[in-house]
Amino acid sequence: MNSAKRTAVISGAAHGIGKASALMLAEQVSTLILMDTDRQGLSGVQEQVTEKTDKGFPLTVDAYPADVTQEAQVRQVFAHIRENCSHLDILINAVGGSSLTGEAGATIEEMDLRQWQAMIALNLTSAFLCCREAVPLMKKNRYGRIVNFSSIARHGRRDKVSAAYAASKAGVDGFTRKLAREVAPFGITCNAIASGITLTERIDEQFWHIRSEEEKNAVLESIPLGRLSTPEEQARVVVFLASEASAYMTGQIVEVSGGI
Ligand SMILES: NC(=O)c1ccc[n+]([C@@H]2O[C@H](COP(=O)([O-])OP(=O)(O)OC[C@H]3O[C@@H](n4cnc5c(N)ncnc54)[C@H](O)[C@@H]3O)[C@@H](O)[C@H]2O)c1
Repeated sequence: MNSAKRTAVISGAAHGIGKASALMLAEQVSTLILMDTDRQGLSGVQEQVTEKTDKGFPLTVDAYPADVTQEAQVRQVFAHIRENCSHLDILINAVGGSSLTGEAGATIEEMDLRQWQAMIALNLTSAFLCCREAVPLMKKNRYGRIVNFSSIARHGRRDKVSAAYAASKAGVDGFTRKLAREVAPFGITCNAIASGITLTERIDEQFWHIRSEEEKNAVLESIPLGRLSTPEEQARVVVFLASEASAYMTGQIVEVSGGI
């Protein structure tokens, strides 16, 4: 299919890597569907994306304020997609994070069941719910690109995140690899990006801004490339994994971590 005629869905599109991905994919697809819980943030991105149509990128953009950890809300968004789009080609599951309710770095004794479940829901169940709706639509055209979000924290070697976050991202890896095998016969690829520390607004506010110069230097020294990633550097890999250029890649966890 002509790449200019593609339909892409992005979760977590109001901020960070999801937002950067939306702005870049807007130049590659004809329909962009954005999902996020942050209504205001979502309209801001929708406006920015719409401005691109004035610059010659013909694009329809729909924004759905939805919580992608909630089955009924995900089903509702995809019901709209089934009704309004003739096909679905790309799904980017960018929702996620390590500090949903302040549990970043929490020890097992500090973490209650609700926080554990919320972490798994945000990082792993959200991808399951969206993939389950997207796969039948992609199968219809025997074409699809799914991009999930893992993290360098998945190996359980990072001090500043909880075991729950590491477990949720290790879960994303297993989910990605198995789903890739399941959907490969239908022309659908499924890969994940294991991001390194990326300076989104959230990371700046909750992790980077609050560090001393000494702590910042220690973090930078642990990264071979010696700096944090920008959201755009992650989004470029999203665009690659959503494109023809990655046609022969599936079931891969692609590290975009500055060499950590
Ligand atoms: N930023 C990093 O340093 C980093 C590092 C490793 C992995 N990652 C992963 O990359 C992905 C993107 O991270 P980011 O830093 O851009 O995040 P972010 O916090 O900047 O953006 C996440 C977006 O998801 C939305 N969101 C949160 N919960 C939601 C829900 N239940 N339903 C719908 N939308 C919801 C938020 O409103 C926000 O717009 C995540 O999976 C994260 O775990 C990020």
